[in-house]
Amino acid sequence: MPLIRIRRGWEIPEREATPEAVYLNRRNFIKTLGLGSIGAFGLLSACRNGSADGTQAAAGQPSATRSVPKSATSNLYPARRNPNFKLDRPITPEQVAGRYNNFYEFSDQKDVWRYVDQFHTRPWQVEVKGLVEKPQVFDIDNLVRKMPLEERLYRHRCVEAWAMAVPWTGFPMKALLDHVQPKSSATHVRMLTFLRPSEAPGQREQDWYPWPYFEGLTMAEAMNELTFLVTGIYGHELTIPHGAPIRLATPWKYGYKSIKSIVLIEVTNKQPPTFWNKIAPDEYDFWSNVNPYKPHPRWSQARERMIDTGEYRDTLLYNGYAPYVAHLYQT
Ligand code: MTE
Repeated sequence: MPLIRIRRGWEIPEREATPEAVYLNRRNFIKTLGLGSIGAFGLLSACRNGSADGTQAAAGQPSATRSVPKSATSNLYPARRNPNFKLDRPITPEQVAGRYNNFYEFSDQKDVWRYVDQFHTRPWQVEVKGLVEKPQVFDIDNLVRKMPLEERLYRHRCVEAWAMAVPWTGFPMKALLDHVQPKSSATHVRMLTFLRPSEAPGQREQDWYPWPYFEGLTMAEAMNELTFLVTGIYGHELTIPHGAPIRLATPWKYGYKSIKSIVLIEVTNKQPPTFWNKIAPDEYDFWSNVNPYKPHPRWSQARERMIDTGEYRDTLLYNGYAPYVAHLYQT
């Protein structure tokens, strides 16, 4: 029987931290599948389309800043910066942020940029439905033209204890919800990512995940001033590794709440299930607010590492956004 040694969190390089979580989850999936844990891990690992560092996978040499092909709304960027959202740290260089992404539909190794060539972000529709007076299917470019685009500098904190600071362009989710007019019975918002295994190798090859990725917020969270639907980054359209053509940014929550490449927003009267909570409920709860005092079962959340400089900083409650959101959680 081959010996598989599971290294503890602090023994592994940070870039492997997520795969460890995935590893544990793979084991659960494997158990569920009745395959047993031995050998199957290797089999599933071998499903990845390339070597561990992704060097065999990419056709061509896409750059970290490769954006979507120019669209009908690319002329709207850069948008005016909203000066209310200030940073306490430098903006992370685009080349660094664009090569360190979590987007499991493409790769679980941060090298998402290598796997996005087959993915099409136009035409793209976003359906808004459920408990609203005016359900609607929006073409992404028509939606972007309708909404009040602005740039905001946000801190961005992953549960894996790394952080960056990003200039997002987008519009408040509230602007979209106001447009479709939620009914008074609405309590939550459910969001869904695309399902296109033919374009997204992670959906094709990591079939143990419950695709498509899904997330949720309470109505009060969705209507909060900070809750931002993002269509641009670094003064241009959003790149695929960051979630083109439209993703969420909720900067007081761990990054996994910020669902990428959204196709559906459903207003509902039930708390929606969420992707990581479904996979590992003991590790990822619905709220997932950044909290340095509440350690993740395997990682302390007290500090965070800036991905560009390697500098460690003390993590702030609600990632420093308490004045905007703390009232939502006071009982
Ligand atoms: N959305 C989808 N659809 N799929 C994903 O794998 N990863 C999440 C989140 N949104 C993810 C997703 C996680 S874990 C993080 S930390 C952020 O996206 C990363 O955003 P970034 O790559 O733009 O920094």
